[in-house]
Amino acid sequence: MLYRLGDPIAAGVAAYKNDGTDDPATYDRRAGDHHDGMTWFGVGTNGAWDAKAGNRGLLVMNHESLTPVFLHPAGRTVVGGVRTVASEVRREFFLHGVSVIETNKGADGKWTYKQDSTFNRRVHTLTPMELSGPVRGTDYVKTRYSPAGTGTRGTVNNCANGTTPWGTYLTCEENWYGYFSRTPATDDARRTAKELAAIKRYGVGPQAFYGLWGTTQGAADSTEQDTFDRWNLDVTGATAVNDYRNAHNTYGWVVEIDPFSPTSTPRKRTALGRCGHEGACLGTVEAGKPLVWYMGDDARNEYIYKFVSNRNWDPADATGGLAAGDKYMDDGKLYVAKFNADGTGEWVELAFGKNGITASAANYAFADQADVLIHARLAADVVGATKMDRPEWTAVNPKTGEVYVTLTNTNAASRPIDKTDAANPRFYNDPKGATAQIGNPNGHIVRFADSGGNAGTTLAWDVYLFGARSTASANINISGLSADNDFSSPDGLWFSHATPGLAWLETDDGAYTDVTNCMLLAAVPGKVGDGAKQTITNVSGATSRTQDTIVGAKPGEKDTQLQRFLVGPKGCEITGIAESGDGRAVFVNIQHPGEDTKDADIGDATKYQSHWPDGGTSRPRSATVVITRNDGGLVGV
Ligand code: FEO
Ligand code: CA
Ligand code: CA
Repeated sequence: MLYRLGDPIAAGVAAYKNDGTDDPATYDRRAGDHHDGMTWFGVGTNGAWDAKAGNRGLLVMNHESLTPVFLHPAGRTVVGGVRTVASEVRREFFLHGVSVIETNKGADGKWTYKQDSTFNRRVHTLTPMELSGPVRGTDYVKTRYSPAGTGTRGTVNNCANGTTPWGTYLTCEENWYGYFSRTPATDDARRTAKELAAIKRYGVGPQAFYGLWGTTQGAADSTEQDTFDRWNLDVTGATAVNDYRNAHNTYGWVVEIDPFSPTSTPRKRTALGRCGHEGACLGTVEAGKPLVWYMGDDARNEYIYKFVSNRNWDPADATGGLAAGDKYMDDGKLYVAKFNADGTGEWVELAFGKNGITASAANYAFADQADVLIHARLAADVVGATKMDRPEWTAVNPKTGEVYVTLTNTNAASRPIDKTDAANPRFYNDPKGATAQIGNPNGHIVRFADSGGNAGTTLAWDVYLFGARSTASANINISGLSADNDFSSPDGLWFSHATPGLAWLETDDGAYTDVTNCMLLAAVPGKVGDGAKQTITNVSGATSRTQDTIVGAKPGEKDTQLQRFLVGPKGCEITGIAESGDGRAVFVNIQHPGEDTKDADIGDATKYQSHWPDGGTSRPRSATVVITRNDGGLVGV
């Protein structure tokens, strides 16, 4: 056990009581909630980044969201749709964002974090951020906080992550739209038709479902009141610099943080486009070639993107920090993926004036490149990109350069039986007890090889794995999973660097939880084209339809290529994975154990769904665990 919700990360901060009474003002120096994507950065003897270091490193992790029932004395206080206890909201602001903590392996081989390390840092909802890249300074992002449109505060719903070749961390803003409130009955009339089209496409408001932060009453002063007001998008002032009508445009980005510079200002890299960003996986790095990041937009029927830098990689920039980010990540091309039925595909550029992305596009009158980047989903709609079954993590196999994308699941409403395609081919019922689960409730993993390297604009793809119960029919359990490796709803996916070819797969599942909790699997994937074309039969009531797809080699055919590695506690998601530079320690996040506990049960510990990790009658906590081998060897092989 390494790092639990509320653990102190600065000298003088008391141990977490975990009963809802800890001082709200200390939460900017405690572990956040809902640990998610993370990266371990080795620290060399000179205190700088050393990718190969094994015993000392900065663990940088996302805190995606909250389990509110366990954060306050008796759950969240909401009266008539209004947050009436400002201190609760302040606590929630701090519990989101990112942690940077120094971790060390002791002489006894045990890992701990250093509570008083000068590297330790919390980035949270109030942390100042720079807007960087083409959107910086444009009218779309001018707010009362930043009339020049150059900055914003904070980051939320940081799901998966990414890295750079210069030792910085990328944190990705996923369901940010759910934090903003808006009142359509009055606000619609004050907006342009374009603004309303964008708000609708991104699902912003009308009522924030994450926390009603914009309704909070009882601020200590006008400065604090402003930190609540900024979550309310209603047009109330004379111009955009008098209110927060544009605040949503400052969220939905990939954000770069330099963990080795604790006072540096994080930068939102707008050239990578705005969506429900899951992660941003760096492609193969080669001197003299562009840098590439692959990104999923995690919502049903959304797309897979990649960003390609205009500059070619110069290894001299490996110590460049955020200035290297300015060079490679603020200037490049954004593409979206199209998967053809025959196993080929294309990357279509999302650039103003190209591929129909113009002022006369049917869905939206694009004005400039900033407009395209802020509304990447609308631009991707124009070019007919392939709608996927919720793109979660992207991962690149260092042995092959091939890219893997988890497609966690979808339902019948989002993809009816007549809307399947070769890359999203399944429609079936996976009953959970008496409850029908119809659509693609178990998800799958698509993979592709870009032609001519990661910067190429065509690709070849297949489906690496289909999630399923091992007991399901061959039309559902297409990958032939067994009771030892069947899984549902793939989400986290990451390739080891210490052991090239080894992949880690994590689940965020609600469909198969009548049999098992969420889990971590170890895998040794082959490559695109190692399987065969297949025709499956989808069934909906009395209707059946055939669908062609392309299936990778079944893991069972090669014996040990997919193995369940650990199963988490009740109510959790397994997400976030990292390794020490020598691969002898693996860090795994257990997110929201016991999250199905009802608000009404907060006083009765016997009704908590889980007491993990502290046991007894404790409230459950998200936490990071460290896995090592008894013999000190590489983990997972
Ligand atoms: Fe936050 Fe897409 O899982
Ligand atoms: Ca996720
Ligand atoms: Ca998920």
